[in-house]
Amino acid sequence: MTRMLVTGGTGFVGTYMVNLLRDLGYQVSSTSHSRPEQANHFYLDLTNTSNVQAVIQQVKPTHIIHLAGQSSVQHSWKFKQQTFDINLSGTINLLDAILKFSPDCRVLSVGSSEEYGCVDQKDTQIDEMYFTRPMSPYGVSKLSSGLICMQYAKAYCLDIVHTRTFNHIGPGQSLGFVTQDFAQQIAQIQLGKRQPVIHVGNLESIRDFTDVRDIVKAYERLLFSSSTGEIFNVCSGVGIKMADILKTLIDISNVKINIQRDPEKMRPSDVPILVGNNDKITSATGWAPQIGVAASLADILHDRWSK
Ligand code: GDD
Repeated sequence: MTRMLVTGGTGFVGTYMVNLLRDLGYQVSSTSHSRPEQANHFYLDLTNTSNVQAVIQQVKPTHIIHLAGQSSVQHSWKFKQQTFDINLSGTINLLDAILKFSPDCRVLSVGSSEEYGCVDQKDTQIDEMYFTRPMSPYGVSKLSSGLICMQYAKAYCLDIVHTRTFNHIGPGQSLGFVTQDFAQQIAQIQLGKRQPVIHVGNLESIRDFTDVRDIVKAYERLLFSSSTGEIFNVCSGVGIKMADILKTLIDISNVKINIQRDPEKMRPSDVPILVGNNDKITSATGWAPQIGVAASLADILHDRWSK
């Protein structure tokens, strides 16, 4: 009997993940840090060892998708310790609980392209063998949680796969991430709720965006068709400059907007370019993204109108 557990199951990616797995007919439990317990949903504070152990003992999952975490690079500059407590110590708590109560469980640990960090400009599509030189506390926390996962796979024979997921976007993501921050301001301008001036951060960085609805399909495939102890990029392979993301959103909105740089939105250091090579996941699982960035951005803007 397959018993799925999605940590962070009420978050941005978690909500899509739980819905996909339930649509596919799986029995799914989820956890979150904010919602009270109800049928198939558990309160989980990853930093609380006994809470983590109790949830794993109760659910005895056969498969876990570990999405819970501190996911904002920006936030990690202000809250470094909290980022490590949740992303690294929290993952260790989870792995120890799995070892104790569900040692045969398959685990998908969701990491980040921020683990690569500093990328040479000439290296256009980086693969899983590329250097890891993170440039943010968040990137270090994800790299170290991925490393500890790989150690548990080797030392204790836990069945773990780790992803390096590049930027993912879609309706429902919270403010604090670039497409939402842009879309929210544009939507308010369209609705006449603010002056036609948008405040932005670094527009020179280049990122590789995939729609969240494609990302969760990749996770489901990796759960069933990848070898243990492996690391997989989850990405589109296409780099887009933030200036072009902004231009596309403004073009969709069809309003005239002045752009203003906001020093508050700049980071102490920001990875200039992160574009992935997805050959490994494609050949292991057959996965490929289906939804283009322009379609995602249109959906995000429409969603922001109603908020
Ligand atoms: N958030 C934000 N808001 N970012 C802005 C803004 C703004 O108003 N203006 C420009 N940027 C730039 C940032 O400096 C960065 O270069 C880029 O837009 C993307 O920023 P985010 O959307 O905050 O994402 P991220 O790349 O830092 O991190 C995301 O992707 C990772 C994978 O690479 C997150 O989703 C992480 O959880 C994920 O692991």
